[in-house]
Amino acid sequence: MVPRTCPRGSTWCINNYTYPVIINVMRKKSKAKLKPQVLNFPDGFLWGATTASYQVEGGIENNDWTQAAREGKVPPAGIACDSYNLYEKDFYFAKSLGHNTHRLSIEWARIEPEEGRFDDKEIEHYRKVLMSLTAHGLEPFVTLWHFTLPDWFAQRGGFLAPHAKTYFVRYCGYVVERLGELANYWITINEPMFYASNGYSKGQWPPFEKNIFDFINIANVLTMSHNLVYEKIKSLRPSLQVGIAKNNICFESNKKTLNRLASKFMNYFWNLRFLNKISRHQDFIGLNYYFYKKFGSKPRLPKSDMGWDIYPKGIYNVLLQLKKYHKPIYITENGLADAKDDKREKFIKDHLRWIYQAIQEGIDVRGYLYWSLLDNFEWAHGYGPKFGLIEVNPKTMGRKVRPSARKYAKICRENLIKF
Ligand code: FCB
Repeated sequence: MVPRTCPRGSTWCINNYTYPVIINVMRKKSKAKLKPQVLNFPDGFLWGATTASYQVEGGIENNDWTQAAREGKVPPAGIACDSYNLYEKDFYFAKSLGHNTHRLSIEWARIEPEEGRFDDKEIEHYRKVLMSLTAHGLEPFVTLWHFTLPDWFAQRGGFLAPHAKTYFVRYCGYVVERLGELANYWITINEPMFYASNGYSKGQWPPFEKNIFDFINIANVLTMSHNLVYEKIKSLRPSLQVGIAKNNICFESNKKTLNRLASKFMNYFWNLRFLNKISRHQDFIGLNYYFYKKFGSKPRLPKSDMGWDIYPKGIYNVLLQLKKYHKPIYITENGLADAKDDKREKFIKDHLRWIYQAIQEGIDVRGYLYWSLLDNFEWAHGYGPKFGLIEVNPKTMGRKVRPSARKYAKICRENLIKF
């Protein structure tokens, strides 16, 4: 073989024989580059983010979480992000980040601070909030109940009390009668199974019970409550779109029979049972996706700051399961705690890639709402985890857009992702 010389006597050249080898490897590498891919989302796709009243508003002192905080059982939410006052600013940010939708919740304890006493000043407050959303070009998704209960309702035994469903329907009806014309999309209940499990089986959230029977009871009461509220809303305003926000987990197993059975059972019990029971009482499905659970040994996966596995394909798996309900689907929550903001952009893109794949396979996904617009109060974890597209300074309440939020903004504006 005729030895070749290194170009211009370059010092990195180990010897005359390695040069051609290196060049060939480099050539091969450059040929192996992934073709740039452009994934176009359907016209009219909704892009945005989600928040919830107790987690961002601040100044709420009359619900079961504030009571539990006074007893030292959970951290206090205090002023939170002060979004009760700064909502215009938040919506301005959301708009400037290319969002065209936003999901928030109404605080029951503000609307009905005592049993049967409704506070019209608070209705007027939320009227301004919803009007501001529309003025900012953000399609509102309104959650009627996101985990927190007014003190009086909790003291009577919450959803396990004898007239609980009646109270809940009355509250929801009151709100929809007054504010119904300001939003098309209404979510009755956020994550019923998580509420039931954290509050009644794991004992981590109010009312801190560990009772498997109550856990099942509460899940059942919530399905019935949803159905009743659905009927109530439809009787008041038939054109409104009503659904729930359901947290579904991607369950998988290895080949062992026991593991397979466990995964099948959990998939039915956690993911599908509730949806089956409300299948004739929903106009859309709100899907919240965060978790992956494998029965049997699990592959090593990257993790969020909460230690939660990041498994984007899981969103595809759970979406495929929803096909049988023949309803439009909105991803009403998906996100991660990532204080350094070095995983968020990839997280969003990878999940969107799998959502796109599900759409190609005929799943009618119509929107994606990232959790969350702001760093906020993360329930039993307090203010530690940073889920926000926007950082919030706890002292000054100043907002600072994270770099990943700008990347997400580009996707929202262009209605596509490029890889
Ligand atoms: C969901 C909740 C939401 C937030 C995220 C991280 O389960 O609906 O309020 O806490 O998790």
